[in-house]
Amino acid sequence: MRHRGVTVWFTGLSGAGKTTIAERVEGQLRLLDCKVETLDGDVVRTNLSKGLGFSREDRDTNIRRIGFVSHLLTRNGVIVLSAAISPFRNVRDELRSLIGDFVEVYVSTPLEVCAGRDVKGLYKRAMAGEIPQFTGVSDPYEPPLAPELTLDTLSQTADESAEEILRWLREHDYIDGAAHYETAPGRSRPVSVVW
Ligand code: ADX
Repeated sequence: MRHRGVTVWFTGLSGAGKTTIAERVEGQLRLLDCKVETLDGDVVRTNLSKGLGFSREDRDTNIRRIGFVSHLLTRNGVIVLSAAISPFRNVRDELRSLIGDFVEVYVSTPLEVCAGRDVKGLYKRAMAGEIPQFTGVSDPYEPPLAPELTLDTLSQTADESAEEILRWLREHDYIDGAAHYETAPGRSRPVSVVW
């Protein structure tokens, strides 16, 4: 599959759907034989950022580490999917400048919906005051001002959101359009790859 290096930078509240959508995008790109890596906040915090907390300084360090690895991979032709809250606009903008080929994807699920879903049970604890500095509850989240894509997870399934990202990547020549159009839904391989 012909493709160019790019970082798809997901940002949004905890539980917004960043990881789920990134997984769907990764799955589709793998079917197309693209080189793809996902850097998920929850995962990175168990290794590369192990020991970091949730102060502004620690979050900025976490995000800069993810951004640095994204930069290295992107310049080597990999499609990087970064899925961390990344609550602060200035660090995201800094990484946009560093990486260049950078697609900011705002997963805009509102706080009430994330807290209502509460998949990990963290919002309940945060609202009870048991988790200090919880994003959206007792710590800020700064939405992007001009993201390339804003995904509405209330009106779209995760697969539809993923398809929107893939369409954007095709339209901006990061992945080869023809190959994708030859892919049938539910098939494990592209039907054929056309350059
Ligand atoms: S970031 O702010 O540094 O970008 P990151 O995406 O890596 O955050 O990690 C967020 C995840 O850590 C959340 O999805 C949640 O599971 C967990 N978490 C634990 N404490 C907090 C907190 N205080 N604020 C936000 N998320 C937290």
